[in-house]
Amino acid sequence: MLWKLLVEYLRPQRRLLLAVVVFQLAASIASLYLPTLNADIIDQGVARGDTDYIMRTGGVMLMITLLQIACTIAAVYFGAKAAMALGRDVRGAIFTRVAEFSEQEVTRFGAPSLITRSTNDVQQVQQLVLMSATLMVTAPMLSIGGVIMAVRQDVQLSWLIAVSVPVLLIAVGLIVTRMVPLFRLMQTRIDTVNRVLREQLTGIRVVRAFVREDIETARFGRANEDVTDTALRAGRLMALAFPTVMLVLNVSSVAVIWFGAFRIEDGSMQVGTMIAFLSYLMQILMSVMMATFMAIMIPRAAVSADRIGAVLGTESSVRPPDHPVSLSGRAARGELEMRDVGFAYPGAEAPVLSDVDFTARAGQTTAIIGSTGSGKTTLVNLMPRLFDATSGSVRIDGVDVRELHPDLLWGHIGLVPQKPYLFSGTVRSNLLYGKPDATEDELWRALSIAQAEDFVREMEGGLDAPISQGGTNVSGGQRQRIAIARALVKRPELYIFDDSFSSLDTATDARLRQALRQHTAGATLVIIAQRVSSIVDADQILVLDDGRIVAHGTHEELLETSPTYNEIVNSQLAAEEAV
Ligand SMILES: Nc1ncnc2c1ncn2[C@@H]1O[C@H](COP(=O)(O)OP(=O)(O)O)[C@@H](O)[C@H]1O
Ligand SMILES: [Mg+2]
Repeated sequence: MLWKLLVEYLRPQRRLLLAVVVFQLAASIASLYLPTLNADIIDQGVARGDTDYIMRTGGVMLMITLLQIACTIAAVYFGAKAAMALGRDVRGAIFTRVAEFSEQEVTRFGAPSLITRSTNDVQQVQQLVLMSATLMVTAPMLSIGGVIMAVRQDVQLSWLIAVSVPVLLIAVGLIVTRMVPLFRLMQTRIDTVNRVLREQLTGIRVVRAFVREDIETARFGRANEDVTDTALRAGRLMALAFPTVMLVLNVSSVAVIWFGAFRIEDGSMQVGTMIAFLSYLMQILMSVMMATFMAIMIPRAAVSADRIGAVLGTESSVRPPDHPVSLSGRAARGELEMRDVGFAYPGAEAPVLSDVDFTARAGQTTAIIGSTGSGKTTLVNLMPRLFDATSGSVRIDGVDVRELHPDLLWGHIGLVPQKPYLFSGTVRSNLLYGKPDATEDELWRALSIAQAEDFVREMEGGLDAPISQGGTNVSGGQRQRIAIARALVKRPELYIFDDSFSSLDTATDARLRQALRQHTAGATLVIIAQRVSSIVDADQILVLDDGRIVAHGTHEELLETSPTYNEIVNSQLAAEEAV
């Protein structure tokens, strides 16, 4: 998966990567050349007292060093560009994919995980690319080139390379293999900390109200402790790594000097050659070490790539049709039909809806009443395809919703969900969601119908009063009324209000419905309600019980025919009398 992801998303960055390779190549060649020049200075310059030669060669060394620095900087610069571009593109791809997801897929991954995947996991892959951009060519070049150059300097001492490189590999390898599982453990433990913290933030009032603070604090403490523990263990290994590497490096240099000294003594080797050999050995060992450390990142990035791939590879279960039917040419009326609709939540055994069959006509109000859990919200969610019906069909103006283009479908529907969501911005920006070019007048009219005019006028800034993410800075009832206004501004053919009036007092509810009727003349209204008083004047009332329509008709008809309806009416009357 990691490989696939890299190939796919680095392809557009080919040029940058080519630049990285070229500059790294140049930088490595420069690094490899420097110790040889240094040897020349010692053997030909210092040994013979040739100051002129020292100055000249020293100047060349300086130039090459500058060149090497420039090339390294350029390689890292282009590498960083490529890595960031990859991050940007992968995040973009995840966003596009997630935007298509239906409720079902979001539930499967979980919102926090989707966020982690598009941030942290992308970052892991990005970091690997960045690291490779600095080491990909340099490490093999320096180790292989280093061996060649070292052997050219002195064949007799080469056995030192053959010993020290494997020793270093084994030492670093042992440490690294122990670190990888710790890093993995760390990812999952960080996830746990995030989850506990998130849960606590979302439920902070509940936590306070139930005096669970101590318990929650302890829970967080444990998760936090776990992360610290793992990080410490990884840190201890890290701390062990550097002295180990230094030990191997220093012992190797001592060995080079020790054995070199014998050869210098018997005249078969010059001091400069030995110094050069030493430098090459250090270069080789350093690149081997870097390469090994880079190896830590690969499994980490691979885990992340898998998590990203899982998102990118998931098709939304609510798929847009291949050949969408267009409604153009016919006037959309917004007539909604459900034909023998059945629905079961994925993984659930019992269906939540069965044999739901009705028509909500244009220009009429269709009300749905039923106890909590009878499936009203589920029924409503089938209309804009938040879920697809498991059996039967949902049609708008005679066309199955699955055959319509989603944009077109949503364009016809104004849905006010049971728990409406406001976007961060202002009252105005929220109202403009459905109709970006709505005039000031239209906005106020919608607010006035939704019985939201008064409180919006009182808010500081009026239409431009700030709304925080999710609409948490206004009350639940106010949020609901702004959401109603938002649907009204849009002026769709089909309005759906899921329990939108239950938070209003009876008088406001009545005013709202009366204003609504005038504003929406000709449109199809589907109103879900708990209160009988909200729906007495509906053209048709459907009584939903345990996912089935057990009765339908007008208020008067139902009073005569439906025992379930009478039960609801009586229980509400009893409640009102009790007040
Ligand atoms: N996302 C979901 N996954 C599984 N079951 C669900 C989900 N949402 C609702 N349900 C179940 O479907 C039934 C109907 O719920 P819902 O449509 O919200 O009822 P209502 O809006 O009438 O109160 C309930 O029994 C509920 O437990
Ligand atoms: Mg509901």
